[in-house]
Amino acid sequence: MIRKIGRNDPCWCGSGKKYKNCHQAMEDRILTYRRAGHVVPSRRLIKSGRDIQGIKDSAKINIAVLDEVGKRICAGMSTLEIDEIVNEVTYGMGGIPADLGYEGFPKSVCTSINNEVCHGIPSKDIILKDGDIINVDCSTILNNYWSDSSRMFMIGKVSEERERLVRVTKECVEIGIQNVKPWTFLGDMGHAVHQHALDNGYSVVREIGGHGCGNAFHEDPFVSYVSTPGTEMLMVPGMVFTIEPMVNAGTDELTFDKENGWTVYTADGKDSAQWEVEVLVTDTGCEVLCW
Ligand code: MF3
Ligand code: CO
Repeated sequence: MIRKIGRNDPCWCGSGKKYKNCHQAMEDRILTYRRAGHVVPSRRLIKSGRDIQGIKDSAKINIAVLDEVGKRICAGMSTLEIDEIVNEVTYGMGGIPADLGYEGFPKSVCTSINNEVCHGIPSKDIILKDGDIINVDCSTILNNYWSDSSRMFMIGKVSEERERLVRVTKECVEIGIQNVKPWTFLGDMGHAVHQHALDNGYSVVREIGGHGCGNAFHEDPFVSYVSTPGTEMLMVPGMVFTIEPMVNAGTDELTFDKENGWTVYTADGKDSAQWEVEVLVTDTGCEVLCW
C-alpha cells in the first residue's frame, strides 16, 4: 500500500522539508508529461541527497581504480594483472568490485580488446600487445551504492584508425553529456550520440546500452544510443544513469562467446570502442559522477 503524501508531510527524500517545499512541484510537473503519454521516471529513480552522497563516495573509488590502471597498463601485461589492480585499489579503499560474481561473472572487471565489444574476462593468457586498444570497465559497491564507468587505453603505438575510433567514441560520450538536460528526453541524448558516430562512418551497438545506476548496479531506464528525439524516458533532476555507447568501426551486429558465456564481439571482426560515465541530472544539465 502506498499512502499519498500530504503537502505538509515531510518529503519522501529525507530532506526534512515539507513535501510542498521540496519535491512536490517537480512531481506535479512529471505528472503532466505522464498524462501526455511520455515515459517518466518513478520516484524510485529520483535519488535523495543522501543517495547522491553515497554514490559520489563510491564513484571516488571507481575513479581511483581507473586512474591506477591508467598508470600501470602497458604492453606485455596480462589482463589478469588489470584485475589484480582493480582488486588492490577497490578493497584498499574499502569497496567491493561490483562485477565479481555478478550474474556469475568470474572476475572483478571487464577487459575488452580490439574486436571485443564488452564483457571481456581478464585472463593470465591474454597479453596486451603494442597497438591494441582496450576498454577497462569498472564498477564499485560502497555502502550499498554503485558506481560504474569505463575508459579506453591505447597500448604503445596504435594505428591511426584505432586512434580515431577511440577519440570519436569519447566525443560521443561528451556529446551525450552536453545533451543531458532536465525536462528533455533520453531519446534526444541518444540520438545526438548516434549521429556523431554515424557522421564518422561508425555504427552503434543497439542491444546493449546504459542504465540507471546507484542504488543497484542496473536500474531502469535502459539508455539507448540509437534512439529517436522526443522518445524514451523524460530526464528529471536527481536521476542517475550511465552514458556508455559501444561504437563499432564496421557493422553493429554482434556475436556472443558461447564458451565463456560472456564476451561480446563484433560480427565482422572489426574494432569496437566504448567509454562510460555515470551522470546525475541536475536543475541545469548534469554532473559527471565518475568517468
Ligand atoms: N560494467 C558493465 C556495465 O557497464 C556491466 C558488467 S557486468 C559483468 O553495465 F558482469 F560483466 F561484469
Ligand atoms: Co554500465
